[in-house]
Amino acid sequence: MIEKFVLGKPFETFATVERLTPSEGEIPFFTTIDKGFFYKLSDNDIVYGLGEQVGGINKRGKKYISRNSDNPHHQEDTLSLYGAHNFLIISGEELFGVFFDYPGFMEFDIGYTNRDELTITAENMDMDVYIITGNSERDIVKQFRKLIGKSYIPPKWAFGYGQSRWGYKCEEDIREVARRYRENNIPLDSIYLDIDYMEDYKDFTVNKEAFPDLKGLCEDMKKEGIRLVPIIDAGVKIEKGYSVYEEGVEKGYFCTDREGNPFIAAVWPGRVHFPDFLDPKAREWFGDKYSVLLDMGIEGFWNDMNEPAIFYSEKRLNEVLERINELGKKNMGISEFFEFTGIVNGLSNNEGDYDEFFHNVGEKSVPHCRLHNLYGFNMTKAAGEAFERLSPDKRILMFSRSSYIGAHRYGGIWQGDNKSWWSHLLMNMQMTASLNMVGFLYTGADTGGFGCDTTEELMLRWLQLSVFMPLMRNHSALGTREQELYRFRNCEDCKKMIEIRYGLIPYLYSEFMKAATNDDMMFRPLGFDFKDEAARNTEDQVLLGSELMLAPVCTRNAKGRYVYLPEEMLLIRMRSLEDYDCEPLPKGHHYVKADLKELIFFIRKGKAIPVGKSAKNTESLDSDHLSLLGYEGAEYELYEDDGISRNVMGSIRKIKNKPYCRMTTS
Ligand code: GLC
Repeated sequence: MIEKFVLGKPFETFATVERLTPSEGEIPFFTTIDKGFFYKLSDNDIVYGLGEQVGGINKRGKKYISRNSDNPHHQEDTLSLYGAHNFLIISGEELFGVFFDYPGFMEFDIGYTNRDELTITAENMDMDVYIITGNSERDIVKQFRKLIGKSYIPPKWAFGYGQSRWGYKCEEDIREVARRYRENNIPLDSIYLDIDYMEDYKDFTVNKEAFPDLKGLCEDMKKEGIRLVPIIDAGVKIEKGYSVYEEGVEKGYFCTDREGNPFIAAVWPGRVHFPDFLDPKAREWFGDKYSVLLDMGIEGFWNDMNEPAIFYSEKRLNEVLERINELGKKNMGISEFFEFTGIVNGLSNNEGDYDEFFHNVGEKSVPHCRLHNLYGFNMTKAAGEAFERLSPDKRILMFSRSSYIGAHRYGGIWQGDNKSWWSHLLMNMQMTASLNMVGFLYTGADTGGFGCDTTEELMLRWLQLSVFMPLMRNHSALGTREQELYRFRNCEDCKKMIEIRYGLIPYLYSEFMKAATNDDMMFRPLGFDFKDEAARNTEDQVLLGSELMLAPVCTRNAKGRYVYLPEEMLLIRMRSLEDYDCEPLPKGHHYVKADLKELIFFIRKGKAIPVGKSAKNTESLDSDHLSLLGYEGAEYELYEDDGISRNVMGSIRKIKNKPYCRMTTS
C-alpha cells in the first residue's frame, strides 16, 4: 500500500506517474521535527536505498546528502555523487519504504551522529512524502516502481561490450580501436566518442579536421557491427555564429541570472550557457538537435556534466582574481595561504553559483537551487522525448551522468568518474543493487576504473563482474594508463571474459527485460530473499534474477574468497565458455578458490541459465542454440524480442534441453 502526504507547496518534479489522492494526518513511522523527520532505529534495522551513493548496501552508519555534484572522489566520506534518489527501505522491527519527492538539498543522517537515530532534513518542507508498506522489501520496491513508471529499455546491442576513452582524438584512433579488437578476435559492439569529436567542445558539432566524415565512419563501423556513441554535454558554448548558442539566446531557452540575462558559467569550451531543460519548449528545442547526429547514423548517446558541472562562474572568477591579486601583494602566512588555495579550489561546482541562476517554469522564474537535482533528469528527458519523436520505431541508447528518480523512464545512468581502485569494483556491484530499487536498471560503472592507472589484475577481475552488468563499458580518463584490452599481456584471459559475456547475453537480456516489464529488480541484496542474519548483512554478494548469486573477487592478489551461501547452490568456475567446472556446495560459509583467470558465480538451487556461444557482436549471436547450465531437470523461461523496436511485446521460450552441466549428486 502507498500513502501520499503533501507538505507545504511541493515543486512538481514528475518523478511519479501515478496520481494518488493525498492522505490527511500524520505521516506514519516518522516523528516530524524542525525541517525534517526522525525515526528511531532498532538494533537490527537495515536501511536500504539512496540509489547512487557510496556507503554499500546497508546505508546505516553514515551521512549522505542529496545534492547532485560533479564529484570524481567516490570515497568513504563522500556525501553525494551525481544523482539524488531519496528512497529508503527500513527493514527490521518495521518494514516500510519512504520516498521524499523533493528536488532541493536533503540530508540523511542514517545512524551516523547517533547509531539508533535516522534523521532526514531538508531546506524546507515543501515536498510529497510517500510511505510504502508491503510484505517484503521486493514487494515494496515493486509498488514504488509502479508509482514512478516503467524503466527505460535500451536496444539489445547496448548489452554488448563497449570501448571508450577520453583521449580518442580523431577518426584514425577510432579505426585503430576497431581494428585491434578485430585482430585480437575480441567481440565489440560499440566505441564511444568523448568530447574530442566536437569542434571546440560545442554540442552537436563535429571537428571536421579530426573527423572529416563522421557519417562515413559510422557506416564503416556499422558494417563491422560496431556503433559509435557520442557524448553530449550540458553547457552550450558562447560563440558568435554557433547556431545552438544563437538560437538559444534568441528564443530565451537558457537559464538566466539575477538580471534576466543568460547565466554565464564555464565548462570544457570555456564560457557557456545552460539550456533551461525545465522549460518544455527548451527541452524540445535541445532534443531536436540530436537529429544532427542521428542523421549521420548514430544510434546512441551519453549525456554528461549535467549536474550541471561548473568549472567557474564568470562572476565568481572575477571576484577570486581580484582577491588573489590582493593576496599576492601580501606576505601570505597561514590564513592568507589557506584562503588563497581555498578560493581557487572552491571555484568549481561552488554552491553559491547554484543560487545565481534561474529557470523558467510555467512563466515563473524559479531559483535553480530549489530544483537543482532535477537538471540532469530533464536533460535526459529532453533526449528521451526527442528520440520518441525522431526515432519512433527504433530504440536509441541513452544514459546520463546526473539523475533524479523519474529519469529512469528516459535513460540509464553510468556510475560516473570512479577510479582504478579495488574498493570501486565492490562499489560498482553495491550501487547497482541500490540503483535497481529506484528504477535504474540500465547501469554499470567504468570497467577497469576511470581515474588512476589500472592493472592487468584489476581489469580482469573487474571484467568478471562487468560480465553481468547491463552496461559493460571500458572507459578511462585522459592521462591514465591506456586500458583497451589488447594493451594487456593477459589480453587472452580478458578476451575469454568478453566471450563469456556474449554467451550470457541471451540470459542477461532476458532478465533485464523481465525486470523492466514487471517493475522488478535485476540485482538484489541477499537480504531481500533470505532472512537469516548472515544473508541480511552480506555486502559483497548480490542476487541476479531468480537464478544467480554473484560473489566477485574484489581484492588484490586474491586466490579465492569467502562466500556465504544462504542455501545450497552450484558453484560455477569458468575459465572460458568451454572450460568450466560445477560443484554443488551446501548452505553455509565457504572459502572458494578463484584463480585470476577464473570467473566464479553461483546457480541457485534447482535453477539453470541458458548459455550460448560467443559472437563478434550482438547481431551475430545465435540464440537458437542455447544450452542450460545448472541443476538437472531445471527449465528456464527465456524472454526474446527483436531487441530494437520500441514495442517490447516479446515472447517467452521455454528452454529445457539436456543440462549443460550435470549436477553430480551432493
Ligand atoms: C567527465 C565524464 C567522463 C568523461 C569526461 C570528459 O568527467 O564523467 O566520463 O570522459 O568528462 O568528457
